[in-house]
Amino acid sequence: MTLNVGVIGTGMIGQDHIRRLTHVLSGVRVSAVTDVDAGRAKTVADDLPAAVLQPSGQALIEDPAVDAVVVTSWGPTHEEYVLAAIAAGKQVFCEKPLATTEEACARILDAEVAAGRRMVMVGFMRRFDRQYRAMKEVLTGRSIGAPLLMHAAHRNPSVPPHFTSEMIINDSTVHDIDVARWMFDDEIAAVTVLKPRISSKAAAGFNDPLLVLLEMASGVIVDVEAMVNAGFGYDIRGEVVCEDGTVELSESAGAVVKRAGQYAGRVPANWRERFVSAFDAELQAWVDAVTAGGTTGPSAWDGYAATVACETGLRALHSGRREPIVLRERPDLYKEPTP
Ligand SMILES: NC(=O)c1ccc[n+]([C@@H]2O[C@H](COP(=O)([O-])OP(=O)(O)OC[C@H]3O[C@@H](n4cnc5c(N)ncnc54)[C@H](O)[C@@H]3O)[C@@H](O)[C@H]2O)c1
Repeated sequence: MTLNVGVIGTGMIGQDHIRRLTHVLSGVRVSAVTDVDAGRAKTVADDLPAAVLQPSGQALIEDPAVDAVVVTSWGPTHEEYVLAAIAAGKQVFCEKPLATTEEACARILDAEVAAGRRMVMVGFMRRFDRQYRAMKEVLTGRSIGAPLLMHAAHRNPSVPPHFTSEMIINDSTVHDIDVARWMFDDEIAAVTVLKPRISSKAAAGFNDPLLVLLEMASGVIVDVEAMVNAGFGYDIRGEVVCEDGTVELSESAGAVVKRAGQYAGRVPANWRERFVSAFDAELQAWVDAVTAGGTTGPSAWDGYAATVACETGLRALHSGRREPIVLRERPDLYKEPTP
């Protein structure tokens, strides 16, 4: 059976997901695309023999030739499309963020709970990364005892001129926030943001790097160094310190070369290179789960909790204080930890 997927938003990641849905993954094809930039959507549709160009997201969701929906438009538009897909009874994969405000995420939770089944997967692809999964497996096995703290780093080589300190939280650290919740099967209880000395490479008025402290409900503390002008590459780090040992995210999936007193491996150039296999695995898992009649991976609850943590992180960035997180009661639909 082939799953027919409609894609809303044919920008950078939309085109990347269309490429993998068309050329990399199995059991799926792109049957419709749309974008507010109709010219861009037409160029993309012209390259896809099985896809029709739909005039709007709503028309795409209602198209009987669309079994399930991928939302890769700008963040503030996600709520509308996710709600419409739920109302149409169609499974939806939504790139992060699920929605840009706590209230919008809560409306999605309410709609999914009313539907009585999980219909939303959120694109936190790090959960499908082999290195992160290996790390979590060690923690779950408890061979090194109970976790106490985690050090993480999220270093981007550079960012476009419109990037801001707020975007370091919303667009970069959001992934570390989801990793922390997933790694420890726990919620974040409070966020503090420290502002180290500013990099001379940062644009004026822009605090880069940031040190984001996430206090988990269990007491585990996660420190995330978030830096977006690292220059040398896209460098993702992680180490969990436990009572009887530590587990570290392996540095590179590529070859490590040792010669003449040197030790060298590749630093990925960007997030696409670092997480290409994770994106493939993430979307294949979604396709397989939808074909089997359900969904998988990060849920709408995970999307909601991440957005609340980002909003709290922004408060902490501006207040300079420790800001507690208050989540609504977790509905039964989301009681089980998500894969
Ligand atoms: N998981 C990840 O690591 C990751 C990486 C990149 C982007 N993203 C997310 O994917 C989303 C898209 O990011 P991008 O970098 O591809 O942005 P982009 O600007 O390259 O593309 C977004 C596209 O959405 C279209 N669009 C905007 N409003 C629309 C609407 N109402 N209906 C239909 N189309 C609309 C735009 O015209 C544009 O073509 C964002 O939410 C972003 O956070 C996630």
